[in-house]
Amino acid sequence: MSVAEIQLKSLVPEQIPAVIALEQAVTEFPWTQKMYFDSLAGGYWGGGLWQGSRLVGAAVVSTGAGESHLLNMCVALEHQGQGYGRLLLASACQQAHDKGAGKMFLEVRAGNGRALSLYQSFGFGQIGVRKDYYPGALGREDAICMALNLRQ
Ligand SMILES: CC(C)(COP(=O)(O)OP(=O)(O)OC[C@H]1O[C@@H](n2cnc3c(N)ncnc32)[C@H](O)[C@@H]1OP(=O)(O)O)[C@@H](O)C(=O)NCCC(=O)NCCS
Repeated sequence: MSVAEIQLKSLVPEQIPAVIALEQAVTEFPWTQKMYFDSLAGGYWGGGLWQGSRLVGAAVVSTGAGESHLLNMCVALEHQGQGYGRLLLASACQQAHDKGAGKMFLEVRAGNGRALSLYQSFGFGQIGVRKDYYPGALGREDAICMALNLRQ
């Protein structure tokens, strides 16, 4: 059996249920359908990594006034640790740069070591902490705020 190559495509609203199913399997507090619909309707960029008809990962980025914000990113559990998160992140930064953004900002749970490692190794630096920003199973959790210069 041949393995279909990975392709990055802009998300369309009909694909949102697939993104939600993927995200629900890998995060405790996934986005709602409305959050995805509103993001795409508001002109945010949604990117999906596809292996044939199978969704491998997705990301959502808002860009405006020379800045961009990585709002969400996830990779299917069985595909994690194979470089797809890095590929999605690079694609998100590239499209933000192409739209004129000079910086990419993001927030990540303080306890999300895997995502933190990815962002740090990609070049993001910590710029602050939002105390008790996220709901958590054991109480609120801090957000680490990070930024990357896209013009380097
Ligand atoms: C965070 C996430 C998107 C990373 O995707 P991924 O495809 O597993 O990441 P990659 O395979 O591209 O790995 C990139 C980096 O992540 C880190 N990483 C990957 N697997 C790891 C593991 N098991 N333990 C610790 N760090 C790990 C490493 O720094 C790795 O760098 P390397 O390529 O130099 O080894 C994915 O784990 C995920 O979907 N998690 C749940 C949702 C989530 O937390 N999203 C981020 C919200 S801010």
